[in-house]
Amino acid sequence: MATVSIRGLHKRYPGGFHAVRGISLDIADGEFLVLVGPSGCGKSTSLRMVAGLEEVSEGEIRIGDRLVNDIAPGDRDIAMVFQNYALYPHLSVRDNMAFGLRMRNTPRAEIERRVSAAAAALSIESLLARRPRELSGGQRQRVALGRAIVREPAVFLFDEPLSNLDAKLRVQMRAELALLHRRLGTTVIYVTHDQVEAMTLGDRIVLMNHGVIQQIDAPLAIYRRPANRFVAAFIGSPTMNFFHGTIRDGGFVAAGGAARVPLDGVAATVPSGDAVLGIRPEDFVVGGGDEDAAAFATAEVTVAEQMGHETLAHVSIGGATSIVRVPGNRGVAPGDRLPLGVRAGAMHLFAADDEGRRLA
Ligand SMILES: Nc1ncnc2c1ncn2[C@@H]1O[C@H](COP(=O)(O)OP(=O)(O)O)[C@@H](O)[C@H]1O
Ligand SMILES: [Mg+2]
Repeated sequence: MATVSIRGLHKRYPGGFHAVRGISLDIADGEFLVLVGPSGCGKSTSLRMVAGLEEVSEGEIRIGDRLVNDIAPGDRDIAMVFQNYALYPHLSVRDNMAFGLRMRNTPRAEIERRVSAAAAALSIESLLARRPRELSGGQRQRVALGRAIVREPAVFLFDEPLSNLDAKLRVQMRAELALLHRRLGTTVIYVTHDQVEAMTLGDRIVLMNHGVIQQIDAPLAIYRRPANRFVAAFIGSPTMNFFHGTIRDGGFVAAGGAARVPLDGVAATVPSGDAVLGIRPEDFVVGGGDEDAAAFATAEVTVAEQMGHETLAHVSIGGATSIVRVPGNRGVAPGDRLPLGVRAGAMHLFAADDEGRRLA
């Protein structure tokens, strides 16, 4: 096991594209760290630099106490699992898992012990004699995991390992990965574009955009206090609703005046002027204001998506659409006019400029 320390890391690809723009990050021994962000934001590039598969343009990477910038991938004490498994088609599962160890002249008995242990941990003992083409996608992904586990590396590097699996299998493998990490305790850096994987797997989440870290925090801390509008919109599904407007006289008024809400306790530190108010779908209270919620707007339902346990009501407020989560047993239909309140302490205020940093 090991810590990983990244300092001022940059990647400029030949041709000049600046894919990673100065990221710094300390990963604790045994931590499960998730690197998340939209496609193209530099996640794989960053991970591949840690793995040694991509040259570092600037900055330092340490695994444990060792500066690894100039150390070959095979000597970094890491194991990487990719989205596309990359198994050898002509080798059995057993030989695929043993391959890396044989290359290192690991004693035969030791290889046997590690392959058996990994196969047991992943419930693939019965598949050891098969070839990759005789396996389902989920089984192949297990073998790819097994091949990484037998290395007994100091750090696992995962690049979207579940992206090729169907939705149901992805949920199952997500839970198995969490269990496996608890059992092995190995440091993990896990790349995904899926905010649900990030929220459920990470001890901490690093959210990137355009090669820059937007926020590093525990999942619920990011959910509750997103540092800017980009983070607020990326984490959470359905996404946070945003209202452009003005802060004045201790309250927020949406542009056009279709919604307004007092900012008691929120706005003490926020100057008057243009701002963006963010409200998550579950933080609306249908029925308007009461002790725990402040009245916000009257909204017309345009679409009601019945999910069984809840209804996602698409509502129009001053011509803009918001999504409101309504607990399942309450009937909501298109054309209904809903008085909406906002739960106390659930308002997010952001600057109105492009950066959109959190104001309160
Ligand atoms: N070999 C390369 N040469 C030039 N640009 C690249 C190369 N690989 C990736 N990029 C660019 O770098 C950016 C980040 O890519 P990547 O790290 O793969 O993003 P992510 O994994 O977050 O989707 C993208 O804009 C991508 O097009
Ligand atoms: Mg990628």
